[in-house]
Amino acid sequence: MKQITVELSESSYAVQIESGLLSRAGDLLARHARGRRMLVVTDSNVVTHVARDFLGGLNAAGIDTVVHTLPAGEASKSWEQLSVLVDWLLANHVERSDHIIALGGGVVGDITGFAAHIVKRGCNFIQVPTTLLAQVDSSVGGKTAINTAAGKNLVGAFHQPSLVLIDPDVLQSLPRRELAAGFAEVVKYGLIDDPEFFDYCDVNVQAFFDGDSGVRAYAIAHSVQSKARIVAADERELTGTRALLNLGHTFGHALEADTGYSSKLLHGEAVAAGMALAFRYSVRRGHCSVDDAARAASVLHKAGLPTTLNEAGVTAGGAELVEHMLHDKKKAGGTLPFLLANGIGQTFLAKDVDLADVASFLDEEAQSQS
Ligand code: GLY
Repeated sequence: MKQITVELSESSYAVQIESGLLSRAGDLLARHARGRRMLVVTDSNVVTHVARDFLGGLNAAGIDTVVHTLPAGEASKSWEQLSVLVDWLLANHVERSDHIIALGGGVVGDITGFAAHIVKRGCNFIQVPTTLLAQVDSSVGGKTAINTAAGKNLVGAFHQPSLVLIDPDVLQSLPRRELAAGFAEVVKYGLIDDPEFFDYCDVNVQAFFDGDSGVRAYAIAHSVQSKARIVAADERELTGTRALLNLGHTFGHALEADTGYSSKLLHGEAVAAGMALAFRYSVRRGHCSVDDAARAASVLHKAGLPTTLNEAGVTAGGAELVEHMLHDKKKAGGTLPFLLANGIGQTFLAKDVDLADVASFLDEEAQSQS
């Protein structure tokens, strides 16, 4: 078992990573249950045998469970589903010291964490991520949220889990497209500040998608280690360190908005195209070599991810995409910070980006592909 600690001033917690962990989680969780029922939130996307093995393990360890199943999909991160979930927790007499378990991908983790934050002014919760994207990114670090008419993740809170359980084996039943979307976030850690890990991803991309368990376990653990380090340095995204995790997200946010936050373009796919655009925009500004921008795009391409506007299915012009960016919650003091790069593993926060220049760049990108 690999254990990584997220070191925080108030509430450090463990991320445990092990093949087959979910079917053995009962014994591990028995001490958290303290003889009480555990409240499990999941969604209809979680593969039946994964949920059955996990819940069966809890029951075998003597833990009674009650289960709330959300409809699958991003639409569940809504006021309506939050209200249903909160009512369900209260109807089940949740206590602050109870552990609410989020079993699923990013949608389940985000809404469950937010519900745990607001019910009775804060209950414990445990993340059991079942998608690659949730394992390497959203389950660690305590960002929780729902979406509103004004945009994605605009209502939420920092609420750290008390434990994260990651079983790489559950990825065996994850659709190839979802796996690739999560892989974009894996590559992101290399691009941010870890050129050696970027090289590892580049060399091992095929093995990762072929299901090599050693490569998958290493890639997940290294990503979680990176995330834990960055979150520990800047838990509330106040100093600019945690903002590095937003590499590709400002461009990506505009692409997601243009495609209606739909299954046309998954979040990880938008981040992949967004990172490739951020690197090419860094070339335009004279920060990064053409070669490094091409290498960044190449590994994403090998994973089957989009790296251009065309591949992302985006039809809007530069001005329209910049307009979408202005709705991004990262906007501060009227300016929009961009994550740019001096090279592979050398990402930095730029606060002086001219949005008219970004719009021209995006128009040129679209023309060069038509
Ligand atoms: N997903 C970015 C962060 O957790 O800060």
